[in-house]
Amino acid sequence: MSARKIEQSRKQQKIISERVNRLSPSGIRKFFDLLASMEEVISLGVGEPDYATPWHISEAAVRSLEKGYTMYTSNSGMPELREETARYLEEKYGIKYEPFGEILITVGVSEAMDLALRAILNPGDEVIMPDPHYVAYDSCVILAGGEPVMVPTSQENNFEVDAGDIEARITDKARAILIGYPANPTGAVMSRDKLLAIAEVAKRHNLMVVSDEIYARLVYGVEHTCFAGLPGVRENTILLGGFSKAYAMTGWRIGYAAAPKEIITAMTKIHQYTIMSAPTMAQVAAIEALKTGEPDVLEMVEDYNRRRLIIVKGLNDIGMPCFEPKGAFYAFPSIKSTGMTSEEFSEKLLTEEKVAVVPGSAFGECGEGYVRCCYATSLADIEEALTRMKRFVKKYKK
Ligand SMILES: Cc1ncc(COP(=O)(O)O)c(C=O)c1O
Repeated sequence: MSARKIEQSRKQQKIISERVNRLSPSGIRKFFDLLASMEEVISLGVGEPDYATPWHISEAAVRSLEKGYTMYTSNSGMPELREETARYLEEKYGIKYEPFGEILITVGVSEAMDLALRAILNPGDEVIMPDPHYVAYDSCVILAGGEPVMVPTSQENNFEVDAGDIEARITDKARAILIGYPANPTGAVMSRDKLLAIAEVAKRHNLMVVSDEIYARLVYGVEHTCFAGLPGVRENTILLGGFSKAYAMTGWRIGYAAAPKEIITAMTKIHQYTIMSAPTMAQVAAIEALKTGEPDVLEMVEDYNRRRLIIVKGLNDIGMPCFEPKGAFYAFPSIKSTGMTSEEFSEKLLTEEKVAVVPGSAFGECGEGYVRCCYATSLADIEEALTRMKRFVKKYKK
């Protein structure tokens, strides 16, 4: 590093808070910057639906704009959206939340996650989470003043986190468990029994559980278990849900948190000073999604399932062993046969074969040796990507 750069970096260290300096830039971002500079790439990279939002949902928002609904809403979100969310959670999972006190409408699960952690953590509190995990989890904990504690998971156990492994990492600083199933980046789904075991650990040690259930609707041949619905943990659970994935609404930036009143009140305090209210037109669209979007969800899930079966079989056939993911829209194959790190593999695959996948190391140490392939893309692209990856793996196989 040149003297000027060292000086610059020193200055920056002083200007920027220690918490922010601790964060490493998202491994995914770096990769997408490279991707953006290339043409004709098949992308299995970005974790979002390839569908546009169903038109009747968008149209509801357009109509609201025409009518001039462009003001702030209540901090907590439109009453109708909170009622619809409560109705939905009760209908789907049999769990009751009071719409005016136990539900907060947020700018996606992203904001809800940040609020949840800031509302419950004191400096140095530990939050236990699986490794690998969604890129924002550890960073959000650090930003909230907490310390992330990793629980390794592995392909042998289908990347499910074990309650005993969680319990073994509980210290007197432990404050919460953060889980997200169906999982990004692995597509893992936890069975009800295994979640029950985690619920028991949480109860025994009086820990909060932050449960990110953004992929709840994207499950294949299995049922989603809503963590808050397990016996005796409702009072300890902050349930996070959203519209981005199931309704193809990533750009609308809308989601929610459901939790006991004391917690939602605390989260609302932060939300009202930092965000005010979630985008009004997105709230209108979310109401429409909950009221009439069910057939769209079912159709998209069926389609993702078709692609899932093809990519998982394809990856296994070409020498990228992959457990069967039962949720979300990711496959997480091993690339160990090439002897490359996941970052090397992804960069070489991108430059040599123009296929974008995300290095597993972006999601934690246990993601090393794997890459994330998002199959929310056309079947034709999936098939072409498999052909190119086959050539690549054959070339580099050790
Ligand atoms: C596991 C997980 N949680 C949360 C989010 C963010 O969701 P939202 O768009 O609702 O902010 C994502 C987005 O990729 C995700 O994969």
